[in-house]
Amino acid sequence: MKKPLPISYFITTFFTIFIGAGAFYGGILLIIDSTGSILQMDGLLKYFEVLPFSDVLFKDYTFSGFALIIVNGIPNIVAFIMLLLKQKTGIILGLICGVLLQLWILIQFIIFPFNILSTSYFIFGVILFLAGYTCFVRYSQRQFSFSIDDYPNILEESKTLVVYFSRMGYTKKVAYEIANAQHAKIYEVKPLEKINGNLGFFWCGRFGMHKWPMKIEEIEIDLSRYDLVIICTPIWVFNVSAPIRAFLDKASGKIKNVNYVFVHYMKSDFKKVAAGMDQILKIKHTLLTNYVARLGKIKRMK
Ligand SMILES: Cc1cc2nc3c(=O)[nH]c(=O)nc-3n(C[C@H](O)[C@H](O)[C@H](O)COP(=O)(O)O)c2cc1C
Repeated sequence: MKKPLPISYFITTFFTIFIGAGAFYGGILLIIDSTGSILQMDGLLKYFEVLPFSDVLFKDYTFSGFALIIVNGIPNIVAFIMLLLKQKTGIILGLICGVLLQLWILIQFIIFPFNILSTSYFIFGVILFLAGYTCFVRYSQRQFSFSIDDYPNILEESKTLVVYFSRMGYTKKVAYEIANAQHAKIYEVKPLEKINGNLGFFWCGRFGMHKWPMKIEEIEIDLSRYDLVIICTPIWVFNVSAPIRAFLDKASGKIKNVNYVFVHYMKSDFKKVAAGMDQILKIKHTLLTNYVARLGKIKRMK
């Protein structure tokens, strides 16, 4: 089933047409009537005198009209059409349009006295940029794929166990790749709290901040049976994720050999987190591997 488009997609689409159509409307009126009187801007022409080449470019509003259409009109309308066609370039162009609008208004902030219209459009530029950027991140994350059929070597009766928790799927993919390469058994730690969606994110953040363990489903596995346990966890608030923290509490003293795999956004090796996990498990880890997951792509850190 296709996922619904995020709200940020609709916000980006709305602002591109709103700003693009407005820029065309204003630009055409300034070209038709270069005194600016139709838009009641004739009194503002004196403020342009501080700009370079004002005696040539800003004698009237002809240049400003063309500039408005080229800088804010055409790019926003192209972005709007691309967004309607569900093209990734529309998202990127949309966020660039947000920046262009902010730069445009910055010039107005310098030359005009304070006015609500310029301030409102600056805020629209910020919203367009933020919505476009959020959309870009969401779009990139959607490119991430996982299929269990790609991992045929996972063995139920192996002496190596890969334990993982994953909220967004990145750690799951890393865990399956490791289990497949090592012919290991795989075990998922399942939290009993609501962790999905935006609310879930903040709920997880709360557990992360307080370094609280999160209630998890009963562990139905005899950990002492395994020669090596590889624990894969996302990093939450610079620390081990709350469900894996709960797993560590329950596994304390029961594991013979342990390796850690951390999946996170930042380029850090989180060695202190590994040391903290050792303390809970009462054993020193043999190996720590870090993966950086960004915009739908996972890279192993060197
Ligand atoms: C509540 C929360 C806190 C996070 N804190 C950090 C952090 O401090 N440093 C970091 O690099 N990534 C942080 N992240 C990002 C995750 O570590 C990263 O997205 C990881 O790939 C998620 O793995 P998953 O897809 O298996 O859930 C955080 C994510 C969440 C949900």
